[in-house]
Amino acid sequence: MPQADSTGFADLDALLPRLGALGALDAAALEEAHVALLGRKAGVLMLAARSVATLPLEQRKAYGAAVNALKRRFEDAFAARRDALDVEHRRRTAAGLDLTMPGRGRWIGAVHPVSRVVDEILGIFRELGFSVALGPEVETEWYNFLALNFPPDHPAMEMHDTLYLDLPPSGEAPGGGELLLRTHTSPVQIRTLLASRPPVRVVMPGMVYRKDPFDASHAPGFAQIEGLAVDQGISFVDLKATLAHFARRFFASTTRVRFRPSFFPFTEPSAEMDVECQLCHGAGCAACKHTGWMEIMGCGMVHPNVLANCDVDPERYTGFAFGMGPHRIAMQRYGLCDIRLLYEGDVRFLRQFGPAAGSAR
Ligand code: PHE
Repeated sequence: MPQADSTGFADLDALLPRLGALGALDAAALEEAHVALLGRKAGVLMLAARSVATLPLEQRKAYGAAVNALKRRFEDAFAARRDALDVEHRRRTAAGLDLTMPGRGRWIGAVHPVSRVVDEILGIFRELGFSVALGPEVETEWYNFLALNFPPDHPAMEMHDTLYLDLPPSGEAPGGGELLLRTHTSPVQIRTLLASRPPVRVVMPGMVYRKDPFDASHAPGFAQIEGLAVDQGISFVDLKATLAHFARRFFASTTRVRFRPSFFPFTEPSAEMDVECQLCHGAGCAACKHTGWMEIMGCGMVHPNVLANCDVDPERYTGFAFGMGPHRIAMQRYGLCDIRLLYEGDVRFLRQFGPAAGSAR
């Protein structure tokens, strides 16, 4: 490599053979030659360009032009060689493709099992003529409890069960009332009845919150689907027939159901509906605590006080209501023993519910 002398001048003609030689260099040698010739700090041509200013005026023009012309030729030659090496590299790797390599798996999104259960349940009730309504997750004490006929000293209203919000009470509801995170979707019954006159047939999905531990069978926030039908002449027979039909559509056409007496302040009479255990089909297993049954929802005839609180005449109208928990139902349907699986977002768990679970492409 011709070197610049200590003043920076270079014998430009001596550099010319290097131009032709670039075409044979490999990538590493090419970069080395680039540094030696055009490197900003000590490249021969860069030093030469910098030395131009030190020449007497009459030499400056010619030498400067020669240095610049040569620099440009080298720059072009480097770019051309880089392009050629690039093309060659691509051709070589394409030819060397190993078509027997396993394809790379691509993630396909899946509908979360709880969302699936919610969508299916809403779909079944839509077929029956129910519409869908939503309500707020932040509620007042009035909507969440008092309008639903909870007596003012009911234990559910205690701080240890309900998440109250540290906000000024709302003036939105009769009597104002503390703000809280709704503990069930039943307040949407009240909002619906106040907003539309009977006949009413609605299902109301949403999240609810309770001061519960987070363990295998509890979570402090979970989904509910509320149902409400109010009209003239609705009886407990309508409740039983509607909910039994739902269970047979959602589980299997042969699924047996049973109703057990229960209590809720906002329904009278009240019941729990059980379905035949989906894992042992009634034989008894650990999942159903050897009863053969699984509880899937609370239900009952709308309490006359609730209708009256919504300015609906309880002498003229009757209705039924129900509430179920899609997280629980998803656990029963898919045989899950820990509710936390439904909250963690672990793709190894969730991909099992995908349409093309875990497949490549
Ligand atoms: N709100 C009740 C609960 O959260 C469920 C329910 C709804 C019961 C409607 C009866 C009627 O447990």
